[in-house]
Formats: sequence, C-alpha cells, structure tokens
Amino acid sequence: MPQSSPYQPVLLRILHSAAAILIVLALITGFWVYNTYDKRWGGLALPTLGDIQGIHGTIALTFLLLFPFFALYSFRLGDRRLVQQSFGQLNQLGKPIWWVTMHRVANTLMLLAATFSVVTGRMMKEEWLPAGEVNRSWYLAHLVAWAVLFLSLALHILLGVKVGGVPLIASMFNWSRREDDTPRTWLQGFKTRHSSSILRIIEAIVIGGILLAFILPVFNL
Ligand code: HEM
Ligand code: HEM
Repeated sequence: MPQSSPYQPVLLRILHSAAAILIVLALITGFWVYNTYDKRWGGLALPTLGDIQGIHGTIALTFLLLFPFFALYSFRLGDRRLVQQSFGQLNQLGKPIWWVTMHRVANTLMLLAATFSVVTGRMMKEEWLPAGEVNRSWYLAHLVAWAVLFLSLALHILLGVKVGGVPLIASMFNWSRREDDTPRTWLQGFKTRHSSSILRIIEAIVIGGILLAFILPVFNL
C-alpha cells in the first residue's frame, strides 16, 4: 500500500464491506420486485424471477442482522466520521473542511436511510404485491425508503471521492493489515458515552429503529 493511502481498521472494513454488498444487493433485488409487480413510474426489461420477493427478503434480513453491529461500530468507535457537535464549518462553503463536514453528514445519512428501509421493509407482507395491492402505505413508504437510500448512497460515494479520491474508496475494500490491528485491539476506544448531543439523538433513532424493525412485525400490525 502506498504511504499516502489512508488506513481503515480491519473491523470497520469487515462490517462496512458486508453492509455495502448487502445494501447494493437489496437495492437491486428491491428494484426487481418493483419491476415485477408495479412499474408505475417506469421499469426495465428484466426477466421475471418467480421468487424475487424471497430472494430480496433473505438479503434484506441478512443486512438487518448485521446492521446493529455496524451501527454500534459507527457510533461508538467511528464517531469522528459522523456528524459532529459543531456545524461551524458549514459556513466555509466550498473549502476543504466544508467537504469533509458534508462527507460526515452523508455517512450519517446512510445510517438513517438504512434504518428507514429496514423498518418499512419489515412491515411489508409478501402477499400484497402478487395480489395487486400496490397502494399499501407500508409499500409506498418502502419505495420512498429505496429512493432515499439510493440517493444517499450516491452522495456518500461521490463525497468520498471528492474528499479522499480513489485511494480513500480503495482503502475501504483492500486487504492489507497493520500488525497491531488484531481482534484483541478491535474494541479499544469503545465509547460508552458521546460528548455530542446531536449524535446521541441520531444514535437513539437508528438503534431504536433497528429494535423496532426486529419487534414490530411480531405484533403483525
Ligand atoms: C424498490 C425497492 C424495494 C421493494 C419493491 C421492496 C419490496 C419488499 C418486499 C415485497 C418485501 C417483503 C418480502 C418478504 O417478506 O419476504 C420486503 C422486505 C424487506 N425489505 Fe425491501 N424492497 C425494496 C428495497 C429495499 C431496500 C433498499 C432495503 C434495504 C435494506 C430493503 C429492506 C427490506 C427488509 C429489511 C425487509 C424485511 C425482510 C424480512 O423480514 O424477511 N428493501 N421488501
Ligand atoms: C459500495 C458502496 C460504498 C462505498 C464505496 C463506501 C465508501 C466509504 C468510504 C470511502 C468511507 C470512509 C470515509 C472516511 O474515511 O472518512 C465510508 C465510511 C462509512 N460508510 Fe460507506 N461506502 C459504501 C456503502 C455504505 C453503506 C451501504 C453504508 C450504510 C449502510 C455506509 C455507511 C458508512 C458509514 C456509517 C461510514 C463511517 C464509518 C465510521 O463511522 O467509521 N457505506 N464509506
């Protein structure tokens, strides 16, 4: 790895790579579900897959199982890459620090958008779309979540490229490891409390949303 490449902790790379792969697959298979049963805002000439809902559900559920760990990592170990208490840099429009601030906002937005997707997805029923029930509110909310997540991901990657270029993006997916980056040190620096109240509120929304996503369907609302 060239000296100038940023280094990402192994734990972050594992959790983030899994999240990135699963979210991209959820976006594609989710679109495929819409393309199979709805298409009212346009569609693509994709082949019809009989069990596309099941495929999507499995990928999305796998993401939901991973998400609490990734979210906890981000809030408790990687919080310096999320929104900070001071938004003072926001008036330095166009300066490098402004872009870094926007990148942190985009990272945080990814966590919120993914939360919205899993909560609305867990409220969907597999029977609705094959029965032509395409105006169910949870389905429409789940479609909005798709669009929000798609746009957030585009922003997240574009701002990543803007702030750190291709080396930053590549550093998130490469295989090198520092000798002292071993499982024993992974949780070093885990914060039990945030100094930032904004982050505390956002964390409550994300962790609360994930818990809701696990619990709500049990009540079959
Ligand atoms: C156009 C986009 C999308 C459509 C039409 C769609 C459709 C659906 C449908 C029909 C279900 C019910 C399937 C089942 O229970 O097996 C579902 C579940 C779910 N979806 Fe989506 N989805 C879309 C995008 C997404 C995205 C981007 C995510 C992000 C993670 C997501 C997360 C979920 C989750 C967590 C479930 C619950 C899975 C389960 O409990 O088994 N969906 N979605
Ligand atoms: C293919 C897609 C993706 C790419 C190329 C990508 C790229 C990146 C990069 C380069 C960083 C490092 C930023 C830095 O060092 O300042 C980062 C951080 C982050 N990404 Fe992604 N990302 C992707 C998908 C996702 C997804 C799907 C999520 C959420 C579900 C996500 C959430 C985050 C978060 C929360 C951080 C900050 C981590 C921390 O707190 O340490 N990313 N991403």
